[in-house]
Amino acid sequence: MKQPKPQSLFLFFTLIFTLYHATADHDNPNSRTSIVFATLGRSSYAFDIFSLPTWDPPTDADEIQLTDGYSVNFNGNFPSISSPSIFSLLPNQTLTTTPTATDPPPLLLIYVTERNGSSNIFLDVVFYHSSDRTRKRSVLDNSANLPPESSRIQVPLVGGGESHDRVSMKDRPSLVGEYLIYVSTHEDSGVGRRSWAAVYSTHLKTGLIRRLTPKGVADFSPAVSPSGLWTAVASYGEPGWDGEVEELGTDIYVFLTRDGTHRVKVIEHGGWPSWADDSALYFHRRCDDGWWSVYRAILPQNGLFSVGSVLTQRVTPPGLHAFTPAASVANKSFIAVATRRPNSEYRHVELFDVVLKQFIEVTRPVSPNAHHFNPFISPNSRRVGYHRCRGASNGRSSNNLLLENLQNPIPEISLFRIDGSFPSFSQDGGRIAYVKFPGLYVMNRNGSGMREVFSGDAFSTAWDPKRVGVVYTSVGPTFASESTEVDIISINVDDDELSYKKLTAGGENNAFPSPSPDGKWVVFRSGRSGHKNLYIMDASDGENAGLHRLTEGQWSDTMCNWSPDGDWIAFASDRDNPGSGSFALYMVHPNGTGLRKVVQSGSGGRCNHPWFSPDGKYIVFTSDYAAVSAEPISNPHHYQPYGDIFTVRSDGSEIQRLTHNSYEDGTPAWGPTFMKPVDVEWPNGGPQCSFEDCYWLNTSLSLGLEAAYLGSSSTKLQCPL
Ligand SMILES: *[C@@H]1O[C@H](CO)[C@@H](O)[C@H](O)[C@H]1NC(C)=O
Ligand SMILES: *[C@@H]1O[C@H](CO)[C@@H](O)[C@H](O)[C@H]1NC(C)=O
Ligand SMILES: *[C@@H]1O[C@H](CO)[C@@H](O)[C@H](O)[C@H]1NC(C)=O
Ligand SMILES: *[C@@H]1O[C@H](CO)[C@@H](O)[C@H](O)[C@H]1NC(C)=O
Ligand SMILES: *[C@@H]1O[C@H](CO)[C@@H](O)[C@H](O)[C@H]1NC(C)=O
Ligand SMILES: *[C@@H]1O[C@H](CO)[C@@H](O)[C@H](O)[C@H]1NC(C)=O
Repeated sequence: MKQPKPQSLFLFFTLIFTLYHATADHDNPNSRTSIVFATLGRSSYAFDIFSLPTWDPPTDADEIQLTDGYSVNFNGNFPSISSPSIFSLLPNQTLTTTPTATDPPPLLLIYVTERNGSSNIFLDVVFYHSSDRTRKRSVLDNSANLPPESSRIQVPLVGGGESHDRVSMKDRPSLVGEYLIYVSTHEDSGVGRRSWAAVYSTHLKTGLIRRLTPKGVADFSPAVSPSGLWTAVASYGEPGWDGEVEELGTDIYVFLTRDGTHRVKVIEHGGWPSWADDSALYFHRRCDDGWWSVYRAILPQNGLFSVGSVLTQRVTPPGLHAFTPAASVANKSFIAVATRRPNSEYRHVELFDVVLKQFIEVTRPVSPNAHHFNPFISPNSRRVGYHRCRGASNGRSSNNLLLENLQNPIPEISLFRIDGSFPSFSQDGGRIAYVKFPGLYVMNRNGSGMREVFSGDAFSTAWDPKRVGVVYTSVGPTFASESTEVDIISINVDDDELSYKKLTAGGENNAFPSPSPDGKWVVFRSGRSGHKNLYIMDASDGENAGLHRLTEGQWSDTMCNWSPDGDWIAFASDRDNPGSGSFALYMVHPNGTGLRKVVQSGSGGRCNHPWFSPDGKYIVFTSDYAAVSAEPISNPHHYQPYGDIFTVRSDGSEIQRLTHNSYEDGTPAWGPTFMKPVDVEWPNGGPQCSFEDCYWLNTSLSLGLEAAYLGSSSTKLQCPL
């Protein structure tokens, strides 16, 4: 058992359990089951890494797709080809022959890929033909009759084959000689709501891993200096993450890449560092005038770093957001940044000439209607890379995944992400109901037989355990007040002519129905008293045939789930601190006795959407227990980027993290059978690539921006240019 630091001002979430390590009842072969959950936006990302030249005004014929169009590929980096040890990672003949004498040398790329259900870091060697303007974007379309193996060599560096207990998110790779420097979340920080993100170095020849971040500390966005000597990170001091989902308010620390020693804070309040040389760092922060801006820090040449010895200066002007900078090492007169300009709905990559103080557009002329993320520059400064959705503009996704299988630490659980939300399994595990706003759908778990069974706004789904084909849902808007018109209905999805039975009538936010195992009752939450509390009603005829109040108090009890043995109802409640937004998990007997807290989340944390395992011994839920895993601005919009899926024994012990990513994972459901752990594709093509950029960058609001931001800011930052 690990103790939180007693002097911490904010003991948000003091978990009093020992952590679970891969053996327990989950391993019982008789209890092989499946969990399905939702991730906001992720199904439509279809990211690939692309590159444009930095010099000539780019045209779309110059854009090269560097990654292979499979899965989700992002957060790339060009390693230095001059590093001789890179050859030892590659098959022998790789760099000695190029397809034709006029072709440029191949590009080397390291990047994150989520293929095969896990987070991996790959190295690709990409051969391309800059001379042939007709080839356009894809280096893989093979129109020059290259044998496929000569257009790309792909080497997995970390991830993939690792054992279940090492499942983690990997992020922000750099290569230094034979070492890969990257973020991973495979070690529990030991303290609730402290991020598991930490920087590691893997010796690629031996696989030896060394942690560079001190224990108990979270580091994001590592950047290695051009000499390889120093690594800069965005990091928290005490008391750590406070629930922030926009700008993390991290400080920048520098340490020796070799072993993590000589760790020193160099910049208060900054993120996303990038080195121009061993004594110049670019980084971003949101200034008091409201604009995200890029700054430069000059560090002393003698390596005696400290906050006091570092000179910082704002580089990009107010009037637009500029963030996630990439320094250029060979030509220091420019940097690359992502921007959100007033009246532009899209995030674009631009160069900024730091001498002439002007922007040079890069991606907007080529793909105006797509978001472009997290630029990086080649060692010779001649190319800029970034990721965006593959396809012409914001293009079609070619992922097409309706159910994506994910590696997770418990081999007996088959874990799936659904392209929808609020999924639930039918009693035999053969069918899944889910919501895709607006609309409620039912399908076989292999994706066949999909049918829309309700076309309006509905949320939460549950199947009746006895009456085959009866599905409960709540109709109306989510996240609404107590008096909002939301009512519970049941639908027999096996009827050719769908009929709906309204089970509640008052319209006072009646939601999250969950039937008892004998099919006689439904527990739900209702705002009818002015507060959201739990009630139980007759399952077939609704509240008029029998209603019983289960909880009562001036707080919110919600997201209820009835245990398979009928003895318990699990739910989320903010009763510890009503109105705070903080939810803990509770259980209560259906007769109102035996109330107990299952997972504590203190004054700030969130535990939501509990769902019992089929044997009733565990609960799956979503929580911010592992805080955020990356700077939120490096991703598209997520309301709750801290959301990950966890399981806990129903006595509150054995907390186990199932998902590792920087997205918003939520609304899990637990099914009784083990689904074959393979992806299920959309029968007729998947979703378009379409998602929102971070709402809090909305520049259309720029008129009111400065005032609004000043009003909410507690720190005082100088913003002179
Ligand atoms: C590369 O060549 C060396 C000898 O020149 C050999 O020892 C090594 O196994 C080869 N590596 C690969 C990956 O083929
Ligand atoms: C990953 O998925 C691809 C595409 O389905 C497949 O070809 C490859 O064999 C898989 N790799 C592993 C290690 O499972
Ligand atoms: C460096 O980049 C600038 C663009 O910011 C360009 O004008 C200049 O020619 C480049 N310098 C060299 C030596 O290529
Ligand atoms: C999908 O599942 C349904 C129902 O179990 C079954 O009838 C159908 O054959 C399955 N389809 C495929 C392609 O496996
Ligand atoms: C309440 O229900 C639980 C199980 O559901 C049972 O063990 C307990 O005896 C009941 N208590 C009363 C007062 O009925
Ligand atoms: C931000 O902008 C997007 C697209 O322009 C819009 O859909 C969204 O509603 C806006 N959000 C807010 C909070 O203004």
